[in-house]
Amino acid sequence: MRIYVTKDYGEMSRRAANIISAQIILKPDCILGLATGSTPIGIYDQLVEWYEKGDLDFSDVVTVNLDEYKGLGAESEQSYIHYMREHLFDRVNLKSENTHMPDGRIADSGEACRAYNGLLASLGAPDLQLLGLGRNGHIGFNEPGSVFEKDVHCVDLTPSTLAANQRFFEAEGSPMPTQAYTMGIRSILRARKILVAVSGADKADAVQKVFFGPVTPDVPGSILQLHDDVTLVTDEAAYSKAERP
Ligand code: F6R
Repeated sequence: MRIYVTKDYGEMSRRAANIISAQIILKPDCILGLATGSTPIGIYDQLVEWYEKGDLDFSDVVTVNLDEYKGLGAESEQSYIHYMREHLFDRVNLKSENTHMPDGRIADSGEACRAYNGLLASLGAPDLQLLGLGRNGHIGFNEPGSVFEKDVHCVDLTPSTLAANQRFFEAEGSPMPTQAYTMGIRSILRARKILVAVSGADKADAVQKVFFGPVTPDVPGSILQLHDDVTLVTDEAAYSKAERP
């Protein structure tokens, strides 16, 4: 595992964006696995800046996202497809037919997961998968206790996730979804390279447990210790408790 410890969120974002842009330059038709959440916003802003300068070309890049709320489509501002369009897809020359997410509008979970699993299988392994880390060590929507051997599946959102996101839905005046479609741990581990971006003191316990604690389903991200090409880009605050036990 490579570890880059940066000063702050801005530096963390630039370093992670650097790694993604290197991937695109080395393989212009690469498959990028992408994440949503607050962490990647600075990374996407940086990629957009380099695209606008003419240093990056997304015309042959293919993207696959980790997850989506069940029941939401692009018309909802809380959907991940809306987030991706706002922060990246509509700001660079990615072709819309090359961007992929689980389809939250499919009501039948089995059908939605089969469709996304099929798509991932037909595309082949992502060259680089970007991940954020939940405070409890989750990756994608794979919460503590998740089975490691799962592909795309439907999850019930945990009370803490529901509580953390409720306010966004209240502001929009729509009910909060109670389920999501997510790549499972097995799907995530198929990526050739994994890039984990983390920032902030509230992630310090997660970084310690995920990268330096025992590998256990209680800390879903800890399985990343068994992947042979993981890069962690973290700021000092998130790395402040990281030491081998
Ligand atoms: C996002 C995702 C989540 C987030 C994680 C961290 O697609 O799957 O696992 O990466 O919850 O979220 P932030 O970056 O908001 O702290």
